[in-house]
Amino acid sequence: MLRIDDFSLQLKGSDGRTLPVLENVSLQLNQGCCLGVAGESGSGKSVLAMSIAALLPSGAVHSRQGKIEFEGCDMLSARESELQQLRGRKIGFIFQEPMTAMNPLMTLYDQIVETVYAHFPATSRADADKRVMQALERAGFKEPDKFLNSYPHQLSGGMRQRAMIAMALVLEPGLIIADEPTTAIDAALQVQLLARLRQQIEQEQRSMIFISHDLGVIKAVSDQLAVFYAGCLVESGSTRAVLESPAHPYTADLVAALPRLVSERKLPVPIAGTLPAPDKKPAGCVYSDRCRYAREECHKQRPKTREIAPGWQARCLFPLHQEKC
Ligand SMILES: Nc1ncnc2c1ncn2[C@@H]1O[C@H](COP(=O)(O)OP(=O)(O)OP(=O)(O)O)[C@@H](O)[C@H]1O
Ligand SMILES: [Mg+2]
Repeated sequence: MLRIDDFSLQLKGSDGRTLPVLENVSLQLNQGCCLGVAGESGSGKSVLAMSIAALLPSGAVHSRQGKIEFEGCDMLSARESELQQLRGRKIGFIFQEPMTAMNPLMTLYDQIVETVYAHFPATSRADADKRVMQALERAGFKEPDKFLNSYPHQLSGGMRQRAMIAMALVLEPGLIIADEPTTAIDAALQVQLLARLRQQIEQEQRSMIFISHDLGVIKAVSDQLAVFYAGCLVESGSTRAVLESPAHPYTADLVAALPRLVSERKLPVPIAGTLPAPDKKPAGCVYSDRCRYAREECHKQRPKTREIAPGWQARCLFPLHQEKC
């Protein structure tokens, strides 16, 4: 369904500098699968999601290399009219910040129905209403008709997030990209909502890219995991395998920082240091400055991605383990 091949992206910094925000990312997503994308704030998760849906404003982009192919469409060279057809109908996007993605002057009903008419102008009013109500119910609104005439500022943070989810679901797209979709919702609801989304994905053979810096949530919903650090995909593979025995020291440190993933009794070990800015990355491995296992070679050049086992990759010179080929 989605294939990303050696994709790199440079954005324009505010002072005219070129910022390498994604470096040589290769990923694949099959139909019916949920891919979890993890990484610290600023690691490039949203920029990747926006690149897949071709949503980055062209004024912000300095250059792009590699390939992003969605259902056979080359997303980097497609015309804007083609991309507009894909967005909404085939790719539903749940944005991180609902307040910036919603129109403050439109009611909940109008925001959602607008998407329906934009793609299917001949839809009857009754059909459109049905779609809107279904989407709201799927997004977790218990009594959607009570909120149809509410404006975004009249909804709670959690409801705005659910409204965003309904907007993404209304055309029943094959791929849903959810960028931290549930941070404004309390924990119990979060799990409930994600479980529902996950069930729909499975039943209807849709796919989802789920972005979060909560590895616990990712573990609960995704079958595949991609771990980002400073614009590099440092490890990818089956969620269970990667979290059980990480091959990249960064993934191992992330897991150690969240001990409830493994055992209630372990104490969290925070990762010392901070993520480098895109223009201040080390010359070698992006994690070399913070890595407990870094050797001299690690500081010299970016490692290539290597296979740990079939379907499992890590971008590390000295992975913590590797299946003998
Ligand atoms: N429009 C832009 N112009 C220039 N730099 C940008 C732009 N958008 C993002 N960046 C930079 O790209 C890098 C990756 O940002 P991104 O928003 O993808 O991080 P993230 O992993 O989604 O973080 P968070 O968890 O906080 O949402 C950051 O260094 C950010 O400052
Ligand atoms: Mg983000």
